[in-house]
Amino acid sequence: MKKRVLSGVQPSGDLHIGNYLGALKNWVRMQHDCESIFCIVDLHAITVYQRPEELRAKITELAALFVAAGIDPKVSTIVVQSMVHGHAELAWLLTCVTPVGWLQRMTQYKAKSDSQGTAGDGLLQYPVLMAADILIYQAHVVPVGEDQSQHLELTRDIAQRFNSLYGETFVMPETSLPAVGARVMGLDDPEKKMSKSAAGAGHAIALLDPPEVIRRKIMRATTDSLPAVDFENLGAGVRNLLTIFQAFSDWSDDRMQRHFSGMRYGDLKKQAAEMVASSLDPIQRRYRELMSEPGAVDRILAEGCQRVAPIADATVNLVKQRMGLYTRS
Ligand code: TRP
Repeated sequence: MKKRVLSGVQPSGDLHIGNYLGALKNWVRMQHDCESIFCIVDLHAITVYQRPEELRAKITELAALFVAAGIDPKVSTIVVQSMVHGHAELAWLLTCVTPVGWLQRMTQYKAKSDSQGTAGDGLLQYPVLMAADILIYQAHVVPVGEDQSQHLELTRDIAQRFNSLYGETFVMPETSLPAVGARVMGLDDPEKKMSKSAAGAGHAIALLDPPEVIRRKIMRATTDSLPAVDFENLGAGVRNLLTIFQAFSDWSDDRMQRHFSGMRYGDLKKQAAEMVASSLDPIQRRYRELMSEPGAVDRILAEGCQRVAPIADATVNLVKQRMGLYTRS
């Protein structure tokens, strides 16, 4: 039996080359070996205020970008969280077995609620909803970035607590941190991981950035005071540009060293910009094609929902039975 793999991405901010090289590219490669579900987690996005029409557009955009980047909707499932009712329902059922102290301790909650003034209860409940996303499909493996490890541990704690209170119900999901795949840093600040929510215009390269924007951002990227690439003495900014180039080109370390040793930073930047622009070009073309076909993305999402809704319903029914609640069937 193929392992079931699930991951989630929020439809807020712009998907960037860090998301692509660190996660999406691996998912594309893995999709044939596993049963993959990619969830667009719009219910998570609304834990902070989103303009409705923008959120709606972002959901479509993200789905189209998944497909354009190589997720094959015939092989993998792309699903919008809010379209499968069980996510929200299971989240409530799990809330009732989750001590509030576990949630208050989460580092992401503490960081976000500090910066929010008044934090909605959704922000506190965020990890329970995430646990529901994973447990509802009885996923075996959850590929995420390091920053989500704590949420995955909590997911297992919640599953364990439910299982011990009500009997074996949930599969214990494993965290899978990217073993391969590049860790791309911000262009403006190469000490920080490239982030969807960071402010600066020169921070990230979005997958949909036009070539001239890509060039401008890379030419302005922070480097250091040396004149040329020295592999014995790589500053964080130069290393980041090399990482980006290598991840897109799939060149070996050897070839990278031979080609870039002693190259002036200006030339490295030009070549990195060309590599990124030419690699994103086919993705952007497929994206535009898909978006210009009326109803194409909506059809993919309706299909995805249809494919996984029975799994979700079965889990919710089982959980309700275990808890002594009524079910329809
Ligand atoms: N919290 C994740 C993030 O911000 C998104 C997410 C929601 C998720 N549900 C998930 C990731 C389920 C993996 C599995 O990146």
